[in-house]
Amino acid sequence: MLKEIKNICCIGAGYVGGPTMTMIAAKCPHINVNVVDINDNRIKAWNNPDTDYIPIYEPGLASLVNEARGRNLFFSTNVNQAIQDADMIFISVNTPTKTYGVGKGMAADLKYIELCARQIATVATSDKIIVEKSTLPVRTAEALKRILDNTGNGVHFDILSNPEFLAEGTAVSDLLNPDRVLIGGEETENGRLAQQALVDVYANWVPKDRILTTNVWSSELSKLTANAFLAQRVSSINSLSELCEVTEADVDEVARAIGSDSRIGSKFLKASVGFGGSCFQKDILNLVYISKSYGLNEVADYWEQVIIMNDYQKRRFAKKIVETLFNTVSGKRIAILGWAFKKDTNDTRESAAIYVADYLLSEQAELVIYDPKVTKDQIFSDLDYLGSRSTEENRDLVEVSNSPYDAVENAHAVAILTEWDEFVTYDWSKIYNSMLKPAFLFDGRRLLSDELMREIGFEFYKIGKG
Ligand code: UDX
Ligand code: ADP
Repeated sequence: MLKEIKNICCIGAGYVGGPTMTMIAAKCPHINVNVVDINDNRIKAWNNPDTDYIPIYEPGLASLVNEARGRNLFFSTNVNQAIQDADMIFISVNTPTKTYGVGKGMAADLKYIELCARQIATVATSDKIIVEKSTLPVRTAEALKRILDNTGNGVHFDILSNPEFLAEGTAVSDLLNPDRVLIGGEETENGRLAQQALVDVYANWVPKDRILTTNVWSSELSKLTANAFLAQRVSSINSLSELCEVTEADVDEVARAIGSDSRIGSKFLKASVGFGGSCFQKDILNLVYISKSYGLNEVADYWEQVIIMNDYQKRRFAKKIVETLFNTVSGKRIAILGWAFKKDTNDTRESAAIYVADYLLSEQAELVIYDPKVTKDQIFSDLDYLGSRSTEENRDLVEVSNSPYDAVENAHAVAILTEWDEFVTYDWSKIYNSMLKPAFLFDGRRLLSDELMREIGFEFYKIGKG
């Protein structure tokens, strides 16, 4: 019998779970949504009466949280209670790339998923629909099912794959108006009913023709490949950016020319200092790993090249700075504008800025970093995590500034690493005047006009233009 969903639990109150559940709660006032997490501080922040301090910065999110929180949206650390009460449980925990053992540096670490599954199996006393929301390697649902069926109390579990396609920075509008919602289910009568129950949740605001249903494996693989295709476009245009620099072509003009072919399309053709974010690299590495594990070495090599190109692009940009500054940045003050992996988010995972900064620090540069939304603690934690030098050295060499104008003062060079809108509106003449001369400006996001910057007096380098 088709189950009407009245109570949803989401395990994991991060960048995926938080915004997605907020949207479900806002659009489905008849469903109670409990978002739970083991991280007490994170839950406290979600419950902060002042929604300016919720843990995730996303345009439009705070007002949605205000609308639903305390009505049918609740944040708590009581995982067991939320599991027990739920008809449907979303798993939105982190699945980082493994840093140890088999598959190190490539495979996804599923330990958090497995812990969730074991906890659900132990605690649940009534039938549940389990929804994979986190990005997972193909066939994770199978592992989940085995754990749930073998350790549970005779409770029946249906497993669905419902990958999230929202992009950070535009999460609210992506959730509100998704290109598609994908729901993979098992090809059994129960599987079909579970799938329909989740279709009915989304149908509260998403047009039915945008809700696609597939089998579980297609759904899991589609998420990885959607990200791989998007990342591949960025690496493709980034590979051309270098060619443009030596041939005096302009990569934006090339992108516009090729992107106006409707078969190619204009999106994801913006050359940059390299893609970041928690998904692109991780998902491609998963794709490479799974291909290799089936002996498909050519398939694996093909996709791996997307990552190799991206690593090269970050290194190339950092190297360009060193070469331009007369082959040494030792003791030179370089201001970095932007630390987030893209604009309109405070997320820094895999941000190109981290790797560019690390390269410059290894060349003994002194860095001053400014980002409108990223905290000082986060910046140091990102640098420390790399382990390239001691935490003391990082603090000696790096300063984090609250003001872009303070950051650039007496700098030899400025590097733009995130495409924050506010950077365009700065008084660049004032910045020029406060810097050492010659004043070098490196635009890793193609934000600024070359004519204007050269007119002001900058020695200006822009990715993708000779
Ligand atoms: C991505 C997918 O877009 C989303 O569907 C999925 O759910 C999660 O992964 P996200 O990582 O949040 O989303 O951001 P996205 O907009 O895809 O950007 C990823 C990276 O690529 C950023 O660092 C961005 O600056 C870079 N990028 C993107 C470019 O350098 N050029 C482009 O043209 C587009
Ligand atoms: P994503 O971008 O996939 O949302 P995040 O790291 O932002 O990833 O969020 C994942 C969240 O899942 C974290 O807040 C983490 O504390 C939480 N989490 C991980 N394992 C568990 C667990 N077993 N129970 C509850 N929460 C968990």
